[in-house]
Amino acid sequence: STESAPENTPSDLVVVANRLPVDLETLEDGGTRWKRSPGGLVTALEPTLRAREGAWVGWPGVPDVDVDPFSEDGLSLHPVRLSAEEVTDYYEGFSNGTLWPLYHDVVATPAFHRHWWRAYVRVNERFAEATAAVAAQGGTVWVQDYQLQLVPGKLRELRPDLKIGFFLHIPFPPVELFRQLPWRTRIMEGLLGADLVGFHTDGGVRNFHWLATELAGATPDRDPEIVHVGDRPVRLGAFPISIDSSTLDTLARTDTVVKRAAEIRTELGNPCRIILGVDRLDYTKGIDVRLRAYHELLEEERISVDDAVVIQLATPSRERVDHYRQMRDDIELSVGRINGEYARVGHPAVHYLHQSLPREELAAFYLAADVMLVTPLRDGMNLVAKEYVACRPDERGVLVLSEFAGAANELTSALLVNPHDTDGVKEALYAALTMNDEEAGKRMRTLRRQVLDHDVDRWARSFLEALGVDVPDEQGQA
Ligand code: ADP
Ligand code: F6P
Repeated sequence: STESAPENTPSDLVVVANRLPVDLETLEDGGTRWKRSPGGLVTALEPTLRAREGAWVGWPGVPDVDVDPFSEDGLSLHPVRLSAEEVTDYYEGFSNGTLWPLYHDVVATPAFHRHWWRAYVRVNERFAEATAAVAAQGGTVWVQDYQLQLVPGKLRELRPDLKIGFFLHIPFPPVELFRQLPWRTRIMEGLLGADLVGFHTDGGVRNFHWLATELAGATPDRDPEIVHVGDRPVRLGAFPISIDSSTLDTLARTDTVVKRAAEIRTELGNPCRIILGVDRLDYTKGIDVRLRAYHELLEEERISVDDAVVIQLATPSRERVDHYRQMRDDIELSVGRINGEYARVGHPAVHYLHQSLPREELAAFYLAADVMLVTPLRDGMNLVAKEYVACRPDERGVLVLSEFAGAANELTSALLVNPHDTDGVKEALYAALTMNDEEAGKRMRTLRRQVLDHDVDRWARSFLEALGVDVPDEQGQA
């Protein structure tokens, strides 16, 4: 429900992220419409900011379009224009060809190109300028993620009156990897422009602290969560992000979702067990890892297709970046191989949907799944793992989770696996498929307590409180 009212009133709380929470989509008839943007950042921040009537500065997801500010259900959206060349060099290039693989433990090889860096600097300046024009005097700006690491520094130059927070949604890498970056000091200086820099884990805080003091000339404090830039303190902290747990829990209890979950099982031909994977199609997510484990269990005849089928839902992502194109081909080849060998007519072994599904449909898949496989090689948090748990008010289902996802620090009652260890993943999958109801229920109850207690509102509050902001609750009370 979009209105076209321009939003000229300065905002006390501004989120700035590479993407707006909605993407502009061009329809076949040449018309356009807004659709929800992909990824965990939007899932987490959208309910938070909507509840607080904030402003959101971001790119509308397509090149070369000028869109006026508009409001949508209490959120005021401020589009930032990117040219086609900037999308190539700043977004696909420096953000997703350099920083993304470097920060995810170089699971793919990062490329370093000076013209990508120049575009990154230019676009970060543009975001800072757009934000400076929207934020109220003395207001709070919350900068998001690796695409915008120079924004805090630039914004502080433009608007020293603002409180500036920065949150990194992906892992902050070990110092040896970060030091590969030719522009490492500039990035650190950009981030140190914030009053508070937040990560998912303590490891991120420690890596950043070392680089701030040893590389970027900040002074340590007795408190390991503070460094000083001149006489200005910069706070650091771990703030594990989460989801809108109770909304998903409620959704998963509705008749529509419960019925749809049962229908999905029937449509699949009533297999004994449904194994589910849900990801952006990204090489960090370890989709190949889980397909290999499933394939080997079939080969070894420890399971059959009647015992267990796989559903892999994969949202299209960054399709023009080489690594992504290559991995899509690899995954689709594996799916084809497994089905070629093990499917029967009308009964595939792996159901693969390269599509983004509506939330209600996704909740039904979570509720239908006996085993959820979350096997990233590296992941900042992984919200899918938390969504699965929130969608199981029936206290059934088993979560298999990679140790290398931030979520593993909190979801310790999942079956934790090392995704580099194929035998280990295979045994965990087999254990999940054969686990008795009592043990599965016990584990799920513990997981649910964690996820329902630590929701995204609590995450946002703890970050904003650490930034020194008076945080009204979702009902608007201070
Ligand atoms: P990332 O931010 O790297 O994409 P997360 O697991 O943290 O990873 O967040 C992914 C978000 O995208 C979740 O909210 C998840 O529900 C959503 N998502 C992933 N795949 C699909 C899909 N096929 N259809 C709909 N939503 C999806
Ligand atoms: O959560 C990590 C993240 O990279 C976000 O910053 C991003 O919006 C999301 O995943 C989806 O990726 P993209 O915006 O590149 O499609």
